Amino acid sequence: MLYIGIDLGTSAVKLLLMDGEGKIQKIVSREYPLYFPHPGWSEQKPEDWYEQTMEGIKELIAQADKSQVAGISFGGQMHGLVILDSEDRVIRPALLWNDGRTYEECDYLNNVIGKEKLSEYTANISFTGFTAPKILWVKNKEPENFARIAKIMLPKDYIAYKLTGVNCTDVSDASGMLLMDVKNRCWSKEMCEICGIKEEMLPKLYESYECVGTVTGKIAAELGIPETVKVAAGAGDNAAAAVGTGTVGDGMCNISLGTSGTIFISSKNFGVDKYNALHAFAHADGHYHLMGCMLSAASCNKWWMEDIVGTDEYAKEQQGIEKLGENHVYFLPYLMGERSPHNNPNARGTFIGMTMDTTRADMTQAVLEGVAFALRDSFEVAKSLGIQIERTKICGGGAKSPLWKKMIANILNLKVDVIESEEGPALGGAMLAAVACGEYANVEEAAAKIVKIIDTVEPEPELVAKYEERYQQFKQIYPVCKPLFDVIK
Ligand code: XUL
Repeated sequence: MLYIGIDLGTSAVKLLLMDGEGKIQKIVSREYPLYFPHPGWSEQKPEDWYEQTMEGIKELIAQADKSQVAGISFGGQMHGLVILDSEDRVIRPALLWNDGRTYEECDYLNNVIGKEKLSEYTANISFTGFTAPKILWVKNKEPENFARIAKIMLPKDYIAYKLTGVNCTDVSDASGMLLMDVKNRCWSKEMCEICGIKEEMLPKLYESYECVGTVTGKIAAELGIPETVKVAAGAGDNAAAAVGTGTVGDGMCNISLGTSGTIFISSKNFGVDKYNALHAFAHADGHYHLMGCMLSAASCNKWWMEDIVGTDEYAKEQQGIEKLGENHVYFLPYLMGERSPHNNPNARGTFIGMTMDTTRADMTQAVLEGVAFALRDSFEVAKSLGIQIERTKICGGGAKSPLWKKMIANILNLKVDVIESEEGPALGGAMLAAVACGEYANVEEAAAKIVKIIDTVEPEPELVAKYEERYQQFKQIYPVCKPLFDVIK
């Protein structure tokens, strides 16, 4: 049988076709626009997602035996607010995970409702990108749109709704709405009340590997697939990436270097860190995870390479970088503000330490290192909770760079396991579909059978020591800049 994994990302939708043994048959990708209508705002049109997903599926299965397609599932960009009216029309463009406009609403949630209450209701506090503050923003700033809301959903759930007619979500993605009681895997009545919404507006909650229904007759006819094709709830892209990299069960780690950068630690047990600096979310394997999320990771390198240096030859640009652990230039990678662990939408990208002999290669190196140092900030929070991690998987566009992997291994002092396929969320989505169709007994079995480690980047003690010194310097830059970030808005 064949399974389709849909990774509904920020720059593009990536679609992957997997067979029953876990072999990847084909991957296609389709881009759509991203809008920044004001500095710090970030929006996309759900209609664009749907159109490109449908075209992508057609291209993906064009040469395949369509009668063999058995299941579809997702990894989706998290936290985005999609609102539909009573006629199922999209009310306004979706506010995305990296949108920083809701600082007043976050302030209200964290300081008037209070972090303790939020943590009690949802296991998390408010960050500007989360969904609940966005609902409050629409309520406060666009009351006419708020009054029209009949359904509230997350990005990938809009696609599932269009494919099946079922208004569904999964527990991993729903965890990032700040509307779900993560520990008990159900909606929080208190949070619905705080946001002024009815629970009926929210999708039905499923585990990621559960089947929510089958494709509608119209979709089956348009795609040329059987009406029996099952759709599984899927997962937020990080939980799906964790499935796709085999980061399931207890105490496993995955780093994703995509538009965002995340460090994801799986756990069989529910747990929250004291300051809620890391997100405490449900995992797609039926358990839980902790996660730190940086808003700009591979996107910092893309910005630096394409918009500033003016090249798309990333590998060539990285060839000139040799002085690892000796760079005097530092880069704070906060081009969209920062989520973990600083929770500061006003934070900005910053270079510091240049001299007259600083080269273009030093600056490129600083960008790559800055992302790795910032990931280490979240890793330090995990370590302070007593979590012991010695190795990590890695995925996302940035994981294609051997240099970046080496930096991560030495800056975080972790063994970095390289897996056969870096297609984390799309592969994870296909695997969840396969579990929903009964091809594998559960997510852990699918991961054990499908995910293969092909190489390990070992940290080198001398380099680890050099980078330790650099990290101690990097750590001092943000606190000094923070008061300035509040001024140079
Ligand atoms: C996670 C997060 C990002 C998006 C990117 O909390 O906001 O990783 O899911 O797609």
